[in-house]
Amino acid sequence: MRKQIAAANWKMNLSYAEGEKLIDELLAAGISLADHQQVVLAVPFPYLTMARDRVAGQKNYSVAAQNCSQHESGAYTGDTSAAMLASIRVPYCVIGHSERREYFHESNEELARKTDRSFAHSITPIFCCGEPLEIREAGTQNDYVAQQLSESLFHLSAEQLTQLVIAYEPIWAIGTGKTASTEQAQEMHAHLRAVLAKQYGAAIADQVPILYGGSVKAGNAAELFASPDVDGGLVGGASLVAADFAAIIRALK
Ligand code: 13P
Repeated sequence: MRKQIAAANWKMNLSYAEGEKLIDELLAAGISLADHQQVVLAVPFPYLTMARDRVAGQKNYSVAAQNCSQHESGAYTGDTSAAMLASIRVPYCVIGHSERREYFHESNEELARKTDRSFAHSITPIFCCGEPLEIREAGTQNDYVAQQLSESLFHLSAEQLTQLVIAYEPIWAIGTGKTASTEQAQEMHAHLRAVLAKQYGAAIADQVPILYGGSVKAGNAAELFASPDVDGGLVGGASLVAADFAAIIRALK
């Protein structure tokens, strides 16, 4: 079975002490994961080693950075490189979250370079895609996300693609309480997989976990994750409440 992943994206929330408490509460729920299941906590940079150490020894729990530089090293004040993340043993990095695309003007081309930097240091990219409301209303969301994938990912080898995680996050569903319907999510995930299959073949595309993000809650996770092409979620708000995120983890296939 494809990897099923519950990923928490804390974004720029919580103090260090609140982060420690949240992880302790989450682990106290005592959820043991199957071999094909994974929990990933995307925490702010200063909390990465703390979070890494807290989940150490818990089977299939790990951490992610929320971003990395497109550059290998050098005079980029304030930036954090994939090499630095690898040096503190961070296994995942979120790349191209819509908030970074919007507020930091990250282009598909820049995200291709960030993906390359991550792979160069054996970090698994959690590559985000998703359309804004006006694109959904115009009905052109399939072409829009296909272009995000083709411009940022299609230079990758088939081997690299099997190491990738994709998160589909419709922007109109992020932090709005408005979730894509199960049908909308499954339809888009199947489309994304078909786009990958056309480029790399079905056998490769079938191996790529595609997570759904956008107002995933304790109450809707099981229904969303039940769809055949929805391989878990990338969760913002509900990941900041231990009991809610625990319920979302339990909803994994
Ligand atoms: P919400 O779960 O708060 O809608 O955020 C989704 C998201 O952006 C996760 O990366």
